[in-house]
Amino acid sequence: MDKIVITGGNPLFGQVEISGSKNAALPIIYATVLVKGKCVLENIPDISDINCSFEILRGVGAKIRMLSRGTYEIDCTDVVCGQSDYELVRRIRGSYYLLGAEFGRFGRARVGFPGGCNFGVRPIDQHIKGFEALGGRVTTDGGYVEIESDGGAVGSNIFFDLSSVGATLNVMIAAATAEGTTVIDNAAREPHVVDCANFLNTCGARISGAGSDVIKIKGVPELHGCTYAIIPDMIEAGSFMVAAVATRGSVKITNVIPKHLESVSAKLIETGATVEEFDDAVMVTAGKTVKRTSVKTLPYPGFPTDMHPQMAALLCTAEGTSYINESIFENRFRYVEELRRMGARIKADGRVLAIEGGTPLTPAPVIATDLRGGVAVMIAALTIPGVTEISEIQLIERGYDNICGKLRALGANIKKISVPDEIVLPQAK
Ligand code: EPU
Repeated sequence: MDKIVITGGNPLFGQVEISGSKNAALPIIYATVLVKGKCVLENIPDISDINCSFEILRGVGAKIRMLSRGTYEIDCTDVVCGQSDYELVRRIRGSYYLLGAEFGRFGRARVGFPGGCNFGVRPIDQHIKGFEALGGRVTTDGGYVEIESDGGAVGSNIFFDLSSVGATLNVMIAAATAEGTTVIDNAAREPHVVDCANFLNTCGARISGAGSDVIKIKGVPELHGCTYAIIPDMIEAGSFMVAAVATRGSVKITNVIPKHLESVSAKLIETGATVEEFDDAVMVTAGKTVKRTSVKTLPYPGFPTDMHPQMAALLCTAEGTSYINESIFENRFRYVEELRRMGARIKADGRVLAIEGGTPLTPAPVIATDLRGGVAVMIAALTIPGVTEISEIQLIERGYDNICGKLRALGANIKKISVPDEIVLPQAK
């Protein structure tokens, strides 16, 4: 079992380079299943969700090789349908993109239910609604989602009941090679949706409107290989921005698209920080104090749900009471208990957190309850002049490329240690 040990209290200073976006790379990697040929993908982050996806695709016949750090060649010419490894698929959320990719290529699909962070119920009814609109007959049985059709996906009009990143991407992938035109209404507008559309278009797809709430996909008979660079990870960037302010430091965050960070920048400026924008970098400097604020998570371009736990950690150090309203997921507050162990005074009422700032945090053994919640406790630990041990860090490594190395380079006292698994003693009689 690995742990992260942080001796906090050092402000972060210096420059950090952001890796490729997890949530853009995942759909794009699965979308290569549509391509009979070689795709070269650049700026792929070195994280376990991606490595797991590579294993899933290798298991169905993809040939994947690393050309250099962050650059991979993927050849899905010989991929077969319906044979993905159930245990690997259930480890991550992004594996559900294999459904859209198999349906688009083979006209049928069979993939286990996806896993991912535990935020309460995470239905896939909108994905199913979309696949059915494209002519799929969808069944869910024995832990699998299965799609059948008569001769493949056929373009159609779909109006999603809510803004779903996963459903928008899954249906867009399936529709890229469908017969006829698909129009997705109430589509998610996240930058990763745009990135996947750009990748598919580079392979010969005809997708327009990505980034707005109406996406039009004119199906093409086949896609060809290409070379494509994934966009930078806006959530990794936002996490470093928040960590810089929480430790009262100043950090230049490079390889970013500042536009994608605007909602986070705006909130940090409200708390008294300064954010300077460059072409592909932002410089974040803490103010003298951190002022209270209120955050409501919303689909893009609103404040991202994937940034609220990190923001909660920062607001524990603010003056006064701040509020966070989580409007995307029904239960994304499991990490709050860990912050409370560190002395945070946080009340949860339904989907709203009231964070009483100003109470000094203290070290405590804590766990990463999920990917972003794990980084929230890391940020809290970075502010505490004492030693904090964080367990279950495999959840953090799902989505952050070399986070310990990057924080160390900014002056954090942080190390990863391996702890032998606990010896289970026989029960006393
Ligand atoms: N929803 C439904 N039905 C569906 C799909 C979604 O009710 O068929 C609901 C969800 O339960 C949620 C809301 O709609 O309440 C939005 O879910 P969405 O589909 O947008 O999220 P997702 O595709 O499951 C992706 C990211 C998450 C990120 C969300 C929101 C990946 C692999 N995951 O999840 O990323 O929080 O979009 O932006 O792209 C993370 O990176 O830490 C992470 C959790």
